[in-house]
Amino acid sequence: MIERQHPGLFLTFEGGDGSGKSTQAALLEAWLRKQGRTVVRTREPGGTEVGEAIREIVLHHRGHIAPRAEALLYAADRAQHVAAVVRPALDRGEIVLQDRYLDSSVAYQGVGRGLEADEIRRLSLWAAEGLLPDLTVLLDLEVGIGRSRLDGSRTRYDRLESEAAEFHARVRDAYLALAAAEPERFMVLDASLPVDELAALIRSRVSAALK
Ligand code: TYD
Repeated sequence: MIERQHPGLFLTFEGGDGSGKSTQAALLEAWLRKQGRTVVRTREPGGTEVGEAIREIVLHHRGHIAPRAEALLYAADRAQHVAAVVRPALDRGEIVLQDRYLDSSVAYQGVGRGLEADEIRRLSLWAAEGLLPDLTVLLDLEVGIGRSRLDGSRTRYDRLESEAAEFHARVRDAYLALAAAEPERFMVLDASLPVDELAALIRSRVSAALK
């Protein structure tokens, strides 16, 4: 059983680029709505007007962005998003389904960019006033497979997607280490499984959390 600090349920999806997070979030959203649940589906970076402006900078700025500036931009996005969208929805008792949250910062900025993972976690928690997800679904996928899925759907890569395979391999390992450190919060799934199979596994875990 999950001990919650608010009447709602905060569920995040994490994983590398091309791991199927938004597909699974959409399927879960449809299933929850069918049961009459109120769902807020959102994402980081983005999810607010300020966040969409930050998203444009972090993903599409053409020049160099210093790693610490990048970390602070993601943290600023998170602070605005939690204050304006996530926390109010959880206080109303709603279910928040979110594509990426603080584990993305720890994995990409903390480990991928080589900033200190613990410091990035503290920065994120400060930005989010300590809000942790009730459940985090990690869609784990070999970097090469994620990349080939992206190749089919993208005409251009964003700043993070353009990083070398070695960067993405560090991100994947970082996610697995985070999940191992917090097994209660994380559900780790093999993202190469069929979409329906993954969706069923996620539904059964979420049903249990809602009881
Ligand atoms: P997005 O288009 O949302 O990626 P995807 O569809 O692959 O999830 O772009 C988000 C990018 O930003 C993604 O490459 C991961 C990166 N990111 C960070 O580096 N740190 C963060 O804290 C977050 C939220 C995202």
